Amino acid sequence: MSQALIDQAREVMEGNDRGSYTVPTHGLYPFQWNWDSALSALGFSHFDMNRAWVEVETLMAHQWDDGMVPHIIFHEPDDGYFPGPEVWKTGQVIPTTGITQPAVAGFAVRKLYDRSNDKAVARERLAELLPKVHAWHQWFYRDRDPDGTGLVAIIHPWESGRDNSVDWDEALEAMPIEGVAPFTRRDTTHANPDHRPSDEQYKCYIWLLEHFRGLGWDNAKLHDASPFRLVDPGFNGILIRSCDDVADLAEVLGDTSMASEARTMAVKGRAALESLWNRTLGQYTCYNRAAGHLQSTPTVAGLLAAIADVPHGRADELVRRIALLGQRCGYLVPSHDPADGAFDSLRYWRGPTWLIVNYLIAEGLGRSGQGEMAQRILADSLKLIQKSGFAEYYDPMSGEPCGGGSFTWTAAMVIEILKTKRVPA
Ligand code: GLC
Repeated sequence: MSQALIDQAREVMEGNDRGSYTVPTHGLYPFQWNWDSALSALGFSHFDMNRAWVEVETLMAHQWDDGMVPHIIFHEPDDGYFPGPEVWKTGQVIPTTGITQPAVAGFAVRKLYDRSNDKAVARERLAELLPKVHAWHQWFYRDRDPDGTGLVAIIHPWESGRDNSVDWDEALEAMPIEGVAPFTRRDTTHANPDHRPSDEQYKCYIWLLEHFRGLGWDNAKLHDASPFRLVDPGFNGILIRSCDDVADLAEVLGDTSMASEARTMAVKGRAALESLWNRTLGQYTCYNRAAGHLQSTPTVAGLLAAIADVPHGRADELVRRIALLGQRCGYLVPSHDPADGAFDSLRYWRGPTWLIVNYLIAEGLGRSGQGEMAQRILADSLKLIQKSGFAEYYDPMSGEPCGGGSFTWTAAMVIEILKTKRVPA
């Protein structure tokens, strides 16, 4: 059974392979996405290690001069997606968007290096890649944490990777959206509109884009100029973990100054993460930096923070919280608490279960000695695949497939889970 699943997953990945990068899925997402690529590299690493490195190398080749790594790289023109390069106008030779995405590349590169049989070749590739990943992390703490709090803010919902999460509602509702140029969405022609963000949310997304474009995509200005400044515990957790991984890898390369800079960022970030602990909910929650308060939205962001090697007591509490969610749904881990009024089992990040999130949470819990819950989450993930195929995401109640189909990173996670986690399938 598990070999058959691995073969199917590989077919999905190969179908979305464009040679030096993968598209998340044909049609809906025709370009290279940042965290999709880094996580997809993990899938490749089990059957083509060279291709795995190439995936991350292509991504990092499009890093901006200031260190930012964009969320989409528009390698080939395709008018099936909105907003395309003619809307972003970021001025890059090969066009990119002007915002970023969760910093999983450092975490992924660590796995690739550890798994490489030919360490001499891996070291050479690492020596090229690692300074770029480190520069990205430095950019984060410089331009997205200008006051040096230890936590970075995102300035657009798309940066979180959880586009329409309930976490952003309060900030988006407070935003001015007059004057947005008229536009036609393309996503709803590829996927069921009931599974996608609303038109009102899309107006906010485009308002922010136009605002940043008006500031010439100058990252030194964007944080303070954005009415949307959210500190996401999952996003920060991933960055902290990647900083730790960079520190370990820099030690392998003998680069002591990079190692100590990366470690310092991780240690500071991990300590600051505690300020996002929400005692009422028993999980981390987002901090609205523009409004100056901790939110109480019960989303998966606060569980994803488990990837950062949180203190043992916190991991225990996160497990309790996930167990509670497990009583409220059929398939862990829902992106929003089913007991909350804003839960929507079909709509993207407002309820559905995503395999990449499950994998990252399980990875973190496993490292924190919470193997039992990690296994349960991974077992639910495989049940979803067996029931509904390689979908973009799943209804956590029924297990129904949602969004796009034949999804690259979903397939990559199946290979990764079956090859590394010893879950029966
Ligand atoms: C959606 C998701 C985001 C992902 C992208 C491509 O925008 O919210 O996390 O990177 O699709 O799969």
